[in-house]
Amino acid sequence: MVLRKIGDGVFFLPSIDWDRRLFDSLIPLPDGTTYNAYLIEGSEKTALLDTADLKMRDSFLSSLKEIKRIDYLIAHHGEQDHSGLIPDVLERYPETKLVVSSKGKEILLVHLPIDEERVKVVEDGETLDLGGKTLQFIYTPWVHWPETMVTYLQEENILFSCDFFGLHLATSETFVRGTYPLEAAKRYFAEIMMPFSPIIQKNLEKIKSLKISLIAPSHGPIWGDPDLIMERYRQWTGEKGENKVLIPFVSMHDSTRIMVDYLSDALIERGVQVERFELPHTDLGRIAMGLVEAPTLILGTPTVLAGAHPYAAFAAFLVNALRPRLRFVSLVGSYGWGGKTVEQISGLLGNLKVEILEPVLARGFPRESDFKALDRLADSVLESHRKEGII
Ligand code: FEO
Repeated sequence: MVLRKIGDGVFFLPSIDWDRRLFDSLIPLPDGTTYNAYLIEGSEKTALLDTADLKMRDSFLSSLKEIKRIDYLIAHHGEQDHSGLIPDVLERYPETKLVVSSKGKEILLVHLPIDEERVKVVEDGETLDLGGKTLQFIYTPWVHWPETMVTYLQEENILFSCDFFGLHLATSETFVRGTYPLEAAKRYFAEIMMPFSPIIQKNLEKIKSLKISLIAPSHGPIWGDPDLIMERYRQWTGEKGENKVLIPFVSMHDSTRIMVDYLSDALIERGVQVERFELPHTDLGRIAMGLVEAPTLILGTPTVLAGAHPYAAFAAFLVNALRPRLRFVSLVGSYGWGGKTVEQISGLLGNLKVEILEPVLARGFPRESDFKALDRLADSVLESHRKEGII
């Protein structure tokens, strides 16, 4: 890893994890990721902003070998993919003060072996002068832990945003190029940030008055056009959805699949977009991305062992955790002799403020009356979207 200059005395240190394919043992990383640190040299002091995941220890510490002194280590966030090497940096540079938000102190001392004497707490809006380089710390809680903050370098108009505006994309590029990073950023938003959309809107407001020339996140390349990603965040956290239905489903002997096929066609005929996901083979990130805009989710599941198929229950649990701006939910599927599928799935969606559209459960193979019920469900989706002003 080499230090890449991105401004006067400002350097980018991305640790590129080309081959990582899973984060938090849950989130697919189809394109790997990076853990970004930054180095800022003032005329009097030097600051390192964040570190990297523990697995990058050797290359990260090696990239700092020419750096003789670090006065401040700014830790924007306690999660170990950025904080994992803080103890190593503090050990190598005994003069370094660890600069954190007030909540960050609590979080970091809980998660890492750090001497409290080395910690310097900065308040929201406080500045730190490195000598011609002024760091302004801005508390931006819940992007995506309670302690998260960002740093604004006043002289260069660079916002070091940590996970905020990040994207999981292993690349040798320093700056965002082309349109694919926006897809990766949407995936990142859906998986990491979406549960905190209301507070993210407040954080967007908080940084609105800053003149920002670069957004330097802790994952992926740097945004040379900050408005591009900030505008997307405004859209993704906004209130209006698209005229779209997500249908995650699982089928054992094709009865549920036939119902999903029929419902998909019925919705498309009515001008409603459909995104389908066959759960046993689905990239969870694609479902999360669909949830950013879809106001309606219809889960397809057979009844098995008196309840929903475990894949459907897992999907419901995940949707509930991600807290998307869904407005309507329903369920379709086949059953053999009974069960508590509807009650079970409803019970898993307690975080969501949604209206339940009449589920359609067919006994065994779906018949004419079931298809008519699916037509009524499609009508109901269309009407609900109209009522919400989505179409
Ligand atoms: Fe990239 Fe929340 O750590």
